[in-house]
Amino acid sequence: MNQPMSFSVQREVQFRFLCPNDIDEVKRLCTEWFPIEYPDTWYQEITSNPKFYSLAATYHSRIIGIIVVEVKQLANTNKEDADILASYYPSTCQVAYILSLGVVVDYRKHGIASLLLDSLISYLTAKERYNCKAIYLHVLATNCVAIKFYEKRRFNVHSFLPYYYSIQGKPRDGYLYVLYINGGKPPWSTIDYFMNMGELLMKLQPCALPRQIIRSVRGWFCRLLAGATSD
Ligand SMILES: CC(C)(COP(=O)(O)OP(=O)(O)OC[C@H]1O[C@@H](n2cnc3c(N)ncnc32)[C@H](O)[C@@H]1OP(=O)(O)O)[C@@H](O)C(=O)NCCC(=O)NCCS
Repeated sequence: MNQPMSFSVQREVQFRFLCPNDIDEVKRLCTEWFPIEYPDTWYQEITSNPKFYSLAATYHSRIIGIIVVEVKQLANTNKEDADILASYYPSTCQVAYILSLGVVVDYRKHGIASLLLDSLISYLTAKERYNCKAIYLHVLATNCVAIKFYEKRRFNVHSFLPYYYSIQGKPRDGYLYVLYINGGKPPWSTIDYFMNMGELLMKLQPCALPRQIIRSVRGWFCRLLAGATSD
């Protein structure tokens, strides 16, 4: 890639929130970037409703990237997203959903999406938003560029969503990715339960059970689970 161009973009890029005057431009960009059609009301909402964190990256006053995020209570997430946090979190706890992240083709690989994501993370990790425990998003299973982007930025796949999207009438699979923030924790898996049971056994040090036996039982459980998960 062209390094001088990259430095100049990074140096001159500016950030501002979207406003209703941006509707036509944002609509044009989203149509270019995403295979999904959004209703007009969606564009009105994301450019005017303060519940959305809708940030634009601009270069010479032109929008070259946007991120649109909704911060909401865990209780208001869709069914398929409701288990992103460990079960002890109250339903009033907050999570942030990335609805859109896109960069104009000519400006990709200049760090623009990373800067937009960094701004979001700084906003969400401010002291007053400590109650927000996770950032999550859905991505088409075939969108390798976006998947690589999120994985490099420490997002982890939470679940596979078969037939989650309908693209031109055809069902397409997706993934749910999550980044935990502000000390947020994922739900416990079966492996976590067994591992914790093993730890507990080690701590109890029952007089009748020598350490070696406890270790063997624990090791057997781990091997059993490793075998089960590698299938
Ligand atoms: C996914 C997407 C948002 C990434 O945007 P981007 O601005 O190109 O992202 P960045 O530049 O921050 O990072 C992309 C790559 O460029 C590299 N890069 C960033 N700055 C660079 C620089 N100055 N020189 C060289 N490479 C650079 C990054 O390291 C990164 O590589 P990596 O993924 O191997 O780490 C963009 O490809 C896009 O808009 N795709 C279409 C819409 C889409 O699919 N959105 C996601 C929906 S969930």
